[in-house]
Amino acid sequence: MVDILDASNSVSRLSLLGDGEEQDFKWKKPLELFAERKFVRICAPMVRYSKLPFRLLTRKYGVDLAYTPMIVSNSFLCSLKARDSDFTTCNVDRPLIVQFAASNTEDFVRASQIVVPYADGVDLNCGCPQRWAQAEGYGACLLRKPEIVQDMIRQTKGAISSQDFTISIKIRIHHNIRETVEFCRKMEHAGLSWLAVHGRTPEQRGEPVNNEAIQLIKSSVNIPVIANGDVKSLEGAKKIHTETKANGIMAARGILSNPSMFAGYQSTPEECVKDWIYLALSTGTSFQCFHHHLTFMLQKAMSQYLLNLNINFYQQRFGTKIQKDISYVVFGKRSDM
Ligand SMILES: Cc1cc2nc3c(=O)[nH]c(=O)nc-3n(C[C@H](O)[C@H](O)[C@H](O)COP(=O)(O)O)c2cc1C
Repeated sequence: MVDILDASNSVSRLSLLGDGEEQDFKWKKPLELFAERKFVRICAPMVRYSKLPFRLLTRKYGVDLAYTPMIVSNSFLCSLKARDSDFTTCNVDRPLIVQFAASNTEDFVRASQIVVPYADGVDLNCGCPQRWAQAEGYGACLLRKPEIVQDMIRQTKGAISSQDFTISIKIRIHHNIRETVEFCRKMEHAGLSWLAVHGRTPEQRGEPVNNEAIQLIKSSVNIPVIANGDVKSLEGAKKIHTETKANGIMAARGILSNPSMFAGYQSTPEECVKDWIYLALSTGTSFQCFHHHLTFMLQKAMSQYLLNLNINFYQQRFGTKIQKDISYVVFGKRSDM
C-alpha cells in the first residue's frame, strides 16, 4: 500500500494500489447494483465520519455503496483548502456517492461537475434538519421547494455527459405522507436516479421510523428507493427490506458502532478494529477522527473493567505493533512518554 497524493487533481486522491492493479480494479455501478441485488447495503453520509478510511473499512465488511459526508457545495467551489479537507478518495473507493448541501442550481451543477471523474454519482441533501443548514437554504427546507430541487436535478443531468453517473436525493418525510409521495414523483419526472428516505419528519428525533411511509413511497415511484433509519444489524436490514421492499438499506449510527454489521457480525470483531487502525494510519486520518471511531466501535466492549486492565491485555489482543496507539486512545497519553 503506498500513499502518494496525486497533486495533479483538483481533489485529494490517494493511490492505494500499484499501477497494474489499478487498471484491474473493477466495480459495479450503482444502478447495476440495484438491478442485481435483493437489497443494496449502504453506508450513510455522515458529517465527520463517512470519510475515506471508514468507507474502505465498511466496504471490506459487506457495504456495496458508500456516501461521503455532506459537503457544502459553495465552500467546495470557492476553496481548494475546503476541497482537500472535505473530499479525499482513492482508486478502490468505489462505487462512491458524493453528497452535497446546495441551495441553488448553479452551485450543485458546478460542484457535481468537479467530482465526476472520482465518483459514481452525486446526492443532494434534502433531509438535514439542523437549524444552521435550513437557514442557509440547505437540507430539509428543500422539501418545501420542489421546483428548485427539480431544476437542480434537470440541470445537473444536462451538464454531465456520463450516462451511468447518478443523481440522487436523500430526504426525510413530510407530516402528510401524500406530500412526500407527490414530491418524489416530481423528482422522478425531473430525471432523478434514485432516492434515500429517512423515515422521520425533520422535527422528529428518537421517534420510531415510519417504515409504512417508506413502503408507500417505494410503491409510488419507478426508481430505486433506499430505506434509512434505525438499522443496526443485517437481520434488521432484512426485516426492513421485507417490510418496505426497498431496493437498498442504509445505516448510519449502527454502522458507526459496528462497521461489520452488513457482513452479519453482531458486534465489532477484533479484526475490524485492527483494520480500522491500519486504514486510518495509512490514510493520514486526524487523531480526533481516529479516536472517535475507535470509541464508537469499542463502546460495548470498553467497559470500566477493560479500562482498568493493564496495557499488556491490549498488547496480547491486538499485537505489539499498535500498542502505542491503543494506549494513547485508552489512557490518553503515549506509552513511550
Ligand atoms: C454523526 C452523523 C452525521 C450525519 N451526517 C449526515 C450527512 O452528512 N448527510 C445526511 O444526509 N445525513 C447525515 N446524517 C443522518 C444519517 O445519514 C441518517 O439519515 C440518520 O442518522 C438515520 O439513520 P440511522 O438510524 O441509521 O442513524 C448523520 C447522522 C449522524 C449520526
